[in-house]
Amino acid sequence: MWKHARLELARDANLLPPLDGAIGVLGQIAVERLRGLDDLQLQCESNSFVATTALRSAGYKVVVEQDASFEHAVVFLPRAKAEAQHLIAHAIERAPNGWIVLDGQKTDGIESIVKQVARSVAIEGSFSKGHGKTVWFRAADAQDLLAWRAEPTDVDGGFSTAPGVFSADGIDPASAMLIPHLPDDMRGAVVDLGAGWGFLSAKLLSNAPKISRLHLVEDNKTALDCARSNVQDARAEFHWADALSWNLREPVHTVIMNPPFHTARNAEPSLGIGFINAAAKLLKPGGKLYMVANAHLPYEPTLEAAFSKVDVLERSTRFKVFCAEQRRGKVR
Ligand SMILES: C[S@@+](CC[C@H](N)C(=O)[O-])C[C@H]1O[C@@H](n2cnc3c(N)ncnc32)[C@H](O)[C@@H]1O
Repeated sequence: MWKHARLELARDANLLPPLDGAIGVLGQIAVERLRGLDDLQLQCESNSFVATTALRSAGYKVVVEQDASFEHAVVFLPRAKAEAQHLIAHAIERAPNGWIVLDGQKTDGIESIVKQVARSVAIEGSFSKGHGKTVWFRAADAQDLLAWRAEPTDVDGGFSTAPGVFSADGIDPASAMLIPHLPDDMRGAVVDLGAGWGFLSAKLLSNAPKISRLHLVEDNKTALDCARSNVQDARAEFHWADALSWNLREPVHTVIMNPPFHTARNAEPSLGIGFINAAAKLLKPGGKLYMVANAHLPYEPTLEAAFSKVDVLERSTRFKVFCAEQRRGKVR
């Protein structure tokens, strides 16, 4: 949870430059970070379904298309450096004559990115508070930073990924460990919860011809767009949604997942626990969950409570692979 709405404090202290007209808000946006800026014409852009839903229900305008231009832009720094650089370039391109305001926590690398920005452009002002910093510079002076724009890249196996998606550099080793445990004779409808750029789904569909439908559920729209190009199979269905609340009318035979173990800021198992409970609700009686997780995360009690049978299929020092079977005769 963000303790300080730093932008509000900076504005109250008359430090921020005048931000008249439409302001694009990009990056790791949270309602709390926008506190006190309600009189500004904020246009949020988020690729997260969960963040978009929260922002919209708090009354903010959110666009997903990412092609509007703005007078000014605010970038809330994401943790992944390549994504941060990409967003800064994107902001400069979209508000070419305005101010770019960059805000981030120390833990997100604000100090190092500000140093990099300062090599190309004069930082006109800054405000430090709450273990983080806000700086601002003129987009017109920062045209060199347009080179930070990143295009989707190809990784091992011919897959396409983009900055900021999970495991953008290549196949995640935990997901690779899950693949040999997914039976080739899997059939019926399957859900890939938190499908990312589609690695598990692509492999599964090419190995298991009897699967009739595979639902890829993912929060990050950029990742889901990558998955659309990585999983070109008529049985695939793509859902930009929150895995914790997404549902289907008919329960499915199998769920596969490598659940997220971070919220925006913290490593914590609660999101993974939510994924396990969501998987249990999606499954038919006797249906199976195949899941890989980091070895140190304590998922066993949740699995034992939500399923009738839990097997560890493989364990290494880093990861563990589970197969959990849904109760037979369970009423959803
Ligand atoms: C550990 S990654 C696994 C990605 C992919 N299955 C793979 O094996 O490469 C977890 C994924 O869950 C997604 N995610 C996080 N929270 C989510 C939510 N509430 N609903 C849907 N997806 C979510 C993340 O964006 C990320 O892509």
